[in-house]
Amino acid sequence: MRIDKFLSTMGIATRSESSSAARKGGIVVNGTPCRDASKHIDPEKDVIIYCGREVTYKKYRYIMLNKPDGYVSATEDGKDPTVLELLPAEYRKFNLFPCGRLDKNTLGLMLITDNGELAHRLLSPKHHVKKTYAYKSKFPLSEEDRILLEAGVTLDDGYETKPAQIELDEGRASGRITLIEGKYHQIKRMFDAVKNKITYLERISFGPLTLDASLKRGEWRELTDEETRALEEYEK
Ligand code: URA
Repeated sequence: MRIDKFLSTMGIATRSESSSAARKGGIVVNGTPCRDASKHIDPEKDVIIYCGREVTYKKYRYIMLNKPDGYVSATEDGKDPTVLELLPAEYRKFNLFPCGRLDKNTLGLMLITDNGELAHRLLSPKHHVKKTYAYKSKFPLSEEDRILLEAGVTLDDGYETKPAQIELDEGRASGRITLIEGKYHQIKRMFDAVKNKITYLERISFGPLTLDASLKRGEWRELTDEETRALEEYEK
């Protein structure tokens, strides 16, 4: 890959910034200044320094975001703000998109990436990726209804839900539910099916990822190398 292409893909410099930096000796490849930004490098093997800073190659970007209320999980929307608008402008040049959907009023863990293949795998129904949500319900959940919801209920469109797991808090009107699928408004519709109602929903885990408790609503961070590895290897 050309050096200038590499630096622009990594969001470090435009092509003209790269060629000007190269001319001034600001680009160093494996310890030797490179005056020509069109030179080819191997981004996975060569050590590239741009203006004194090492630029490590990342093929894809993975962002964990704590979704606030009122944002839609889409790349654009004519009406409501999207989760992508919570990221700084320098991320706009990547083809980022939310991996999966949360309702506008659902909070919590949202993965944003530009790795289409991985997103496809994680979202495919045959992979059964586990997602856990903290929830509150209008009424305490009876033991009978908990058993029904765990075994599978019939939604308003006739769909039979797959087995789920529910862990209840004291008082039985809040807890955590884990699903291995993600139909439209699924948890809300599951609780509707047992004549209850979801009043609060927050995703706290998605596959191998757990929502970082230090992220406030609307805050985000890139995944650590360990999280990235766990995600890329998940259910392969
Ligand atoms: N189930 C819902 O009802 N809503 C969500 O946002 C996610 C799961």
